[in-house]
Amino acid sequence: MDANKLPRHIAVILDGNGRWAKKKGVPRAIGHKEGCETLKHILDTCYEWGVSFFSVYAFSTENWKRSQAEVTALIQLMRYYLPRLEKRSMERNTKVRIMGDIDGFPADVQKIMHHLVDTTAANTGLTFIMGLNYGGRDELRRAMVKLAEKVKRGELEPDAITEQMISENLDTAGIPDPDLIIRTSGEMRLSNFMTWQSAYSEFEFPTVLWPDFSDADLEEAVNIYNSRDRRFGGRKNEES
Ligand code: IPE
Ligand code: IPE
Ligand code: MG
Repeated sequence: MDANKLPRHIAVILDGNGRWAKKKGVPRAIGHKEGCETLKHILDTCYEWGVSFFSVYAFSTENWKRSQAEVTALIQLMRYYLPRLEKRSMERNTKVRIMGDIDGFPADVQKIMHHLVDTTAANTGLTFIMGLNYGGRDELRRAMVKLAEKVKRGELEPDAITEQMISENLDTAGIPDPDLIIRTSGEMRLSNFMTWQSAYSEFEFPTVLWPDFSDADLEEAVNIYNSRDRRFGGRKNEES
């Protein structure tokens, strides 16, 4: 992969674990486990290619609506994979950030998450952002609360609130907006992912189910991205 051709920030809505399991005739939890293995592999690929920012949507604020058995299985996977992710991130100079309200998780899982983020905070290579109990609307709501508190304390005039201030109060503060958002499994919706940050992202909806997503699929997505013409509301050149 030519490093010059890489989008600075690639985001993935990893979808299709359940359908993958159904197709194989195995429990949904096995689909999620396989999805974690795929994520581990794709994260390695991003590291090897030299991607700067890679983010994934792994658990939404709406995913609590699933059966208790499925939610428990997903949390169990966090208990298993997150400490391993921490170890690997230290070996690979990777900084892990979490977007989402981690207070929603059991205390022991919160502890693992805080440890992961704190331990890897000084790493300077790839930044890997995980959406865990993440919802774009919830994130905006929390940012608004922070800004409203400043207004209440008399530190900020309502009319002085800028777009940049809003960005800086989101969980992705300091992280550039995603250039490319890929959603696997063929679903064409954001499902509450990066509501604010996706304003000018490019979108791709490959039909592959997440556990089957490969390096070749990622490469194809990057190639399609490079064929797009991003205009940001302006003009590509000033010719008539
Ligand atoms: C994505 O796979 C993982 C999570 C949302 C946690 P799904 O579990 O949504 O898989 P499908 O959509 O049922 O196939
Ligand atoms: C979105 O996928 C959330 C994650 C990938 C974590 P879902 O499978 O939960 O979304 P819907 O229900 O199809 O919109
Ligand atoms: Mg799904």
